[in-house]
Amino acid sequence: MQNVSTSLFILGRQPALGLAELESLYGAAGLRPVGREAALLDTDPAAVDFDRLGGAIKFGRVLTTLPSVDWRDIEKYLTGSLPKLAEDLPEGKLTLGMSVYNLRVSPAAIQALGLTLKKSIRKSGRSVRLVPNKELELNTAQVLHNNLDRDNGWELLLVRDGSQTIIGQTLRVQDIESYTIRDRERPKRDARVGMLPPKLAQIIINLAVSDQDKSQAAILDPFCGTGVVLQEAGLMGLSTYGTDLDERMVRYTRDNINWVNDYLRVSFQWKADVGDATTFVWDPIFNAVACETYLGRPFTALPNPEVLHQTVSEVNLIIKKFLKNIGSQVSSGTRMCVAVPAWQVRPGQFKHLPLLAGPSATNLDSLGELGYNRTIFEHVSSRDLLYYRADQVVARELLVLIKK
Ligand SMILES: C[S@@+](CC[C@H](N)C(=O)[O-])C[C@H]1O[C@@H](n2cnc3c(N)ncnc32)[C@H](O)[C@@H]1O
Repeated sequence: MQNVSTSLFILGRQPALGLAELESLYGAAGLRPVGREAALLDTDPAAVDFDRLGGAIKFGRVLTTLPSVDWRDIEKYLTGSLPKLAEDLPEGKLTLGMSVYNLRVSPAAIQALGLTLKKSIRKSGRSVRLVPNKELELNTAQVLHNNLDRDNGWELLLVRDGSQTIIGQTLRVQDIESYTIRDRERPKRDARVGMLPPKLAQIIINLAVSDQDKSQAAILDPFCGTGVVLQEAGLMGLSTYGTDLDERMVRYTRDNINWVNDYLRVSFQWKADVGDATTFVWDPIFNAVACETYLGRPFTALPNPEVLHQTVSEVNLIIKKFLKNIGSQVSSGTRMCVAVPAWQVRPGQFKHLPLLAGPSATNLDSLGELGYNRTIFEHVSSRDLLYYRADQVVARELLVLIKK
C-alpha cells in the first residue's frame, strides 16, 4: 500500500464546481484533477470535512496506484492483494462493491471480477456479498443502502489517471437523505424566489472562504431569501447574517433557521434583518460574503430579445449598485462568492451580465472599476463556474471576488 494520506474525490454533475470548491478550501498546491470526474488531494482523509462539500459525491482513500490501465493487470492485482487487505477488516460478513471511472471495461467484466474476488476472499473463511454492477459505477444510494461506507462494507474505486489506475476505497458518499430534508422539509419555501439547492449553497459558501479562514468565517448573505445560505453556513459551524429587501423573506429566513435549530438540533449564531442591498449599511459582524443575488424574472422558456434585454439591464443595475455599496463597507482582501444570473440563449451558450465584460473605455461598470479582482483558480477556468441544467434558461454564474 502507498499514498495512504491522499484523499480521492469523485466530483458531482458539474465537476468544475467541485474542483473550485476543493481548491478554495484546501489550496491549489496539493490538489490534482484526475480525468474529468475525479480529483486527488494531498491531505489525510481524516482531515477532510466531507460533510461541508457540495460538489463531491464520493470521498475515499487511495490504496495504491497501478502503472497500467489494462483491465487484466487490474484483475491480477486485485485478486492477489484484496484477500490480504480484507484481513484488516472487522470480523463478519463483508459487502463488496466496485465503481469504475474512465477505464475501458464493461459492467459484465466488473461483475465477473467481483465474483472472482468474492471467491478468493471466501477461501480465507470470510463470507462476502457482492453488490451487482448494472452500470460502471454504483450510485450514492446503492453505496448507502448496501452499507458500503460502513465497517464491513467495501466499495473499491478504480479511477483512470492517464496511463495509471488509482485504486481507492470509499469512506463517505453524499448524504442524499439529509440534503432532501434540508431542502424539502423546511417550513417556509417559496417557488417564486427560486430555491437554492443546499449543495449549491455549500459550494457558494466554500468559495467565499479561503483555506485559512474556513472554520472561523462569519458569512453575510445580503439577498437571503428563505435562508438556505444561512442554514448551510450554520451547519458548517460558521456564524451567519442575512438581509433581504422583502420583509416576508426575512420572516421566512427566521422561521427556517429556528427550524434548523430545533429540528436538526444545530445551533449557531445568526441574525436576519430587512435591508435593500443597494443602500443598506450592515453591522460589521461578517468577514465574508456568500449569496445568490436577485436573478430577475424566472423564465421557463427563452423570452423575446426585448424582454431579455430589459431583464439583463435591470439585474445588472441592481448587482452593480450592490457591489458598489458593499465594496464601500468591507476592507481590502474581503472575499465574496456572488451567484448571479446568466441566461442560456442556446444549448451551452450563455448571455452574461454586462458588468462581467472586461474593463474598457466603454465599460466603466466592470468588476475592476467597481473595485474587485476576480479570483483566478489554478485548476478551473472562471467561465466554468456555472450551475445549470440543460433545460434551464436562468443559470447561476458563481463570481469569486476579492475586494481590492
Ligand atoms: C434568488 S432569491 C435568493 C434566494 C435565497 N438564496 C434562498 O435561500 O431562498 C433573491 C432574493 O433577493 C431579494 N432581493 C431582490 N432585490 C433585492 C435588493 N435590492 N436588496 C436585497 N434583497 C433583494 C429577493 O427578495 C429574493 O429574496
